[in-house]
Amino acid sequence: PTARLTLDRAFTIAPVNRRLFGSFVEHMGRCVYTGVFEPGHPAADERGLRTDVIDLTREMGVEVVRYPGGNYVSGHRWEDGVGPAAERPNRLDLAWRQIETNRFGLNEYMAWTRAAGVEPMMAVNLGTRGIQEACDLLEYANHPGGTHWSDLRIRHGVADPYGIRLWCLGNEMDGPWQIGHKTAVEYGRLANETAKAMRLVDPDVELVLCGSSNSSMPTFGTWEATVLAEAYDAVDYLSLHAYYEEDGDLPGFMASAVDMDAFIDAVVATADGVAARRRSRKRIALSFDEWNVWNFSRFTGRDRAAFEEAPRLIEDTFTAADAVVVGDLLITLLRHADRVTVACQAQLANVIGPIRTEPGGPAWRQTIFHPFALTARHARGEVLRVEPVGPTLDTARYGDAPQLSAVATLDDEGVTLLLVNRGVTEALDLAADVRDVGVTRVGLAACLAEDDPHRVNGPGAETVVPRPLPGVRIDAGVLHARLPAMSWSLVRLH
Ligand code: AHR
Repeated sequence: PTARLTLDRAFTIAPVNRRLFGSFVEHMGRCVYTGVFEPGHPAADERGLRTDVIDLTREMGVEVVRYPGGNYVSGHRWEDGVGPAAERPNRLDLAWRQIETNRFGLNEYMAWTRAAGVEPMMAVNLGTRGIQEACDLLEYANHPGGTHWSDLRIRHGVADPYGIRLWCLGNEMDGPWQIGHKTAVEYGRLANETAKAMRLVDPDVELVLCGSSNSSMPTFGTWEATVLAEAYDAVDYLSLHAYYEEDGDLPGFMASAVDMDAFIDAVVATADGVAARRRSRKRIALSFDEWNVWNFSRFTGRDRAAFEEAPRLIEDTFTAADAVVVGDLLITLLRHADRVTVACQAQLANVIGPIRTEPGGPAWRQTIFHPFALTARHARGEVLRVEPVGPTLDTARYGDAPQLSAVATLDDEGVTLLLVNRGVTEALDLAADVRDVGVTRVGLAACLAEDDPHRVNGPGAETVVPRPLPGVRIDAGVLHARLPAMSWSLVRLH
């Protein structure tokens, strides 16, 4: 079969927003402790930050990192994590049944973001806490000085305010599992009042309101409409979270991005519906601040009897098929770049992470590292709307799904085409009309596909990597390529 598309510089969606290449560091499992932070590790710097993980974060092209949760944030006391490390308390973390030592806190996180060259994205606790603590934290972080909290930051050795722009107003507050779970009206009111107060502390903050934890929540849709009705004028973003898993259905899993696409459309429609009712010209942006592949049906982490320090939680080992799906989810985020302007893959290290580490040992790249890294490096300039026409797949999960998923970006030096063949058995031929974008030469042509879709990487055995895609050529203004079954490809044209 063949799929066709046309590249036309007139059909742009939006600029490639670098904040789409975000990640997430939660105080969960080993994401922080023995992940990004491990004093005494041979690769750790004098602050305990693992430089091997920092190097991989930079190689991956991560641009923004959300912190400190996640479900963890809903019981978080940020003051516990600042000041002399020896004086910081151990606490019970009720979200993940952990002992939290607070050796890593706001100032260590900010030092890490600077070392890794990423923008910070903070979350405030709206589970067990409220307006005052959110304002205190913002004052500590962003106020220049001369007040209780800003002077405390200065005494802690940080003279200049951090100027953190992005702030999440809680996390997954619709979920009954959330500590301090609220109804939509309760949360919407609290978020609105917190947002208004935070803007009085610092008018430059950008605020993210919690949308649904996933699109299968019974309150999905009404939650979004209600919280936006309460807080529309005070916030900038609405959050979306989604995780996908194979769960014994490889063909359906390969079409996961169909669900993400519909989810985004539904949230845009709901947000714009609220705008219409308010006769508001303001448009709410979307922050897809948790997304990934996660075998969550195998997750039993909350059932553990004992509280532990840095337990091994959801350290999924990703397959080649997982990497193709991650590449497709990134294509989908780019295709919605006009409305999705922040996105964070969850999480960065160990906890469903593209980067894995061993305590005292190596750091290595999981399969899903690669489509993220190559997309972040080569998707630049403007996103182009491509409208593939081709075969569809009949999936049990999502009905008919296009076999080809594609997006393109156009920059001063050329074009990047991102392509996924979702078919599990058949290669797919591509014919792309590239006459309008004026390219004549194929540069990089990389493809991630394995004959065994369940092949994985391990420490010292990173065999699932992108390889050259043979036979890519431009002929009379048409780009031809053969995309293997279950493959993710990136083609650079000049
Ligand atoms: O990323 C893991 C968890 O998934 C987060 O803590 C939570 O927000 C989501 O349910």
